Amino acid sequence: MIKPASPAEEFARRRSALMRLMGRDAIAIVPAAPVRRRNNDVDYAYRQDSDFHYLTGFGEPESVAVLVPGREQAEYILFVRERDPVRETWDGRRAGPAGARRTYGAHDAFPITDIDEILPGLMENRAKVFYTMGIYPEFDQRVVGWVNGLRTQARNGRHPPQEFVALDQVLHELRLFKSRTELELMREAARIGAQAHVRAMRFCRPGRMEYELMAEIVHEFRRHGADTSYYPIVGSGPNSCILHYNENDQPLRDGEVVLIDAGCEYECYASDITRTFPVNGRFSPEQRAVYDVVHEANLAAIAKVRPGNHWNEPHEAAVRVVTQGLVRLGLLKGRPAKLERDGAYRRFFMHRTGHWLGMDVHDVGDYKVGDAWRVLEPGMVLTIEPGIYIPRGARGVPKRFQGIGVRIEDDVLVTRSGAEVLTDGVPKDADQIEALMAEPPEDAKRAAVRALPRAGRGRRARA
Ligand code: GLY
Ligand code: MN
Ligand code: MN
Repeated sequence: MIKPASPAEEFARRRSALMRLMGRDAIAIVPAAPVRRRNNDVDYAYRQDSDFHYLTGFGEPESVAVLVPGREQAEYILFVRERDPVRETWDGRRAGPAGARRTYGAHDAFPITDIDEILPGLMENRAKVFYTMGIYPEFDQRVVGWVNGLRTQARNGRHPPQEFVALDQVLHELRLFKSRTELELMREAARIGAQAHVRAMRFCRPGRMEYELMAEIVHEFRRHGADTSYYPIVGSGPNSCILHYNENDQPLRDGEVVLIDAGCEYECYASDITRTFPVNGRFSPEQRAVYDVVHEANLAAIAKVRPGNHWNEPHEAAVRVVTQGLVRLGLLKGRPAKLERDGAYRRFFMHRTGHWLGMDVHDVGDYKVGDAWRVLEPGMVLTIEPGIYIPRGARGVPKRFQGIGVRIEDDVLVTRSGAEVLTDGVPKDADQIEALMAEPPEDAKRAAVRALPRAGRGRRARA
């Protein structure tokens, strides 16, 4: 395998690709994400804007990237915070303009405080401004202000840009296709995420709390240098039927299932994984029956992930299997084909089968081109996540099926020949889950080894 390109080259390649698409009469302006206040004087953990990261790899707030294709002195300019020993003592290290040039490949870099002086000059004589409106309203005002400033000076012979172009349209099309380097990061995010789910399955037992499972998951993420890519969902019993449940504060009860939807973010790339399993380690017959339908739907959908198929084909496959399964279970009555057409399955399967995955959990990229579903191509990554949710009190549904919510979510890469399931490090087959949960816990295994006589330990180690 070819070694992944070093990040600096990778980011340079992305900027070049974007600049080629922009053309020479254009300028692109990309701001870093603002710091967000959580409460009083406490901020949320900083997360760089995905577009900004994609083009720069630069992790600091209060920065702006500017691309000026074909400009001789410098095509790639970064505005960043200046070095400041006092501020760095309080808030952490800064690259400063020199570091932005040296480490991040900026052709030129200036203090962010100078942007009002410098940026209008860079915009002058460029017909188009590539910029994404509506994400950071305060920054929108500044961009509009710079253009208007040039307009009012048109009489003095200055040339304002004539056109705003939606940068996201162009950039997100690039982001939809993951490079080799990006795929390495996504495989790692998936691997860590899968391992966290295994850890939660091993830890689970009646009497523990939903938040304890969440703590196991987060522990596994953090010990690999990753963090949550979204707030984990840990819903047991009836909570498994609440799609975005996030209280995570209920006891895990014997005889119930627990649904965990949790993924990590590694170097700005997300995984997104759901597994559902019995709290006590053994599925009841009804849980198992529902589970097997969702599992079959998950496999049928993944089988439709290959180049040349369109975006909706995995969903259509999942809907077919779920509808037929619900009829078999007696939860829907009628002819499957008609129930499918009428959308009857939506009572129990009310979301779509997946979404693009990348730096954002619900990643960028269009799902349709014109009126037609997009055709899958190598390098795209998507989730496959069918589910069946049967809430308490569901009318006409036998009690023994109520309070069972099942979703099985994998992250899948479209390859040249088909698909690669990135999240196969955590089992989803019901028998395999039961076998994993039946294994003695790690601490018990360690204790058992300690209890063996020395010779016995050696034999065991060689076995
Ligand atoms: N975790 C959000 C989703 O599955 O789409
Ligand atoms: Mn998802
Ligand atoms: Mn999910």
